[in-house]
Amino acid sequence: MGVKKIIVTSCKGGVGKSTVAANLALQLALAGHKTLLVDCDFGIRSLDLILGVEDRVVFDIRDVALRGVEFSRAVIHDRRSPLLDFCAAPAGESEAIEPALFRTTINRAAEEQGYEYILLDTPGDEGDTFMMAASAAESALIISTMQPTSIRAAERTGTAVAEVGIFSQRLIINCFDFASKPPPGQASVLDIIDKTYLQLIGIIPYDSRLPELQLKGGLIDELPGTNTATAFANIAQRLAGKNVPLFTSFRGINKKRVMKYILSTRPV
Ligand SMILES: Nc1ncnc2c1ncn2[C@@H]1O[C@H](COP(=O)(O)OP(=O)(O)O)[C@@H](O)[C@H]1O
Ligand SMILES: [Mg+2]
Repeated sequence: MGVKKIIVTSCKGGVGKSTVAANLALQLALAGHKTLLVDCDFGIRSLDLILGVEDRVVFDIRDVALRGVEFSRAVIHDRRSPLLDFCAAPAGESEAIEPALFRTTINRAAEEQGYEYILLDTPGDEGDTFMMAASAAESALIISTMQPTSIRAAERTGTAVAEVGIFSQRLIINCFDFASKPPPGQASVLDIIDKTYLQLIGIIPYDSRLPELQLKGGLIDELPGTNTATAFANIAQRLAGKNVPLFTSFRGINKKRVMKYILSTRPV
């Protein structure tokens, strides 16, 4: 089976791209898949902080592509799983790597290390670095929250991703709030699917413990048995081609209330 190279993207910042990329990469590794996570945000790198390895970064993906540094010297083995590797973005704001060279660098790393999944975290715009990351991927996970601006950004991202030839696209709705009543006028899950023209691959709850964990480089392995961890596990399984219905193994959710969120209540 060939490596699956996936960009985790949206042309909007702050929707959870890096959070989803890091936790999904860990979940894939915990499910037995050798996984590489690459920070392609050459504006402000963040995955080293999210993984809690900022003190261990010596070389980055730019050093590998442009300065002849061996990939094995730039890769950081995550402490949580022997199957999770990470490669950082350059520290300061840096120019993108030329797409063909970036693609070759990623393909070589995949071959050398035998990765099953490579997740490429992108910046929140459609600039050169996005183009660079997209050039190495064959599919895209597009992240949206329930916010109208984020939904609009997801739609635009789908178009931008298709323009670079990636037609395998899936939507992840992040920061889904199970707890409170949907505010009047808020888009339902079906509305979001309608508006973005994207197939849904999963819904991740809003969980205030995620940003708290991030302050100390912690990921979902520290939230075992929670719906948040289950959400990532379900998405990992769906990526592997398994049919896992929405909210499988979620606990304590009010199904009636959740249906209100899912079904469109607006006239067409
Ligand atoms: N499901 C979630 N629940 C709660 N907070 C979240 C969730 N996903 C992301 N966040 C928080 O939102 C903020 C932005 O996330 P980040 O992953 O950096 O976004 P992006 O990479 O799209 O700019 C971070 O503080 C992160 O901890
Ligand atoms: Mg980010």
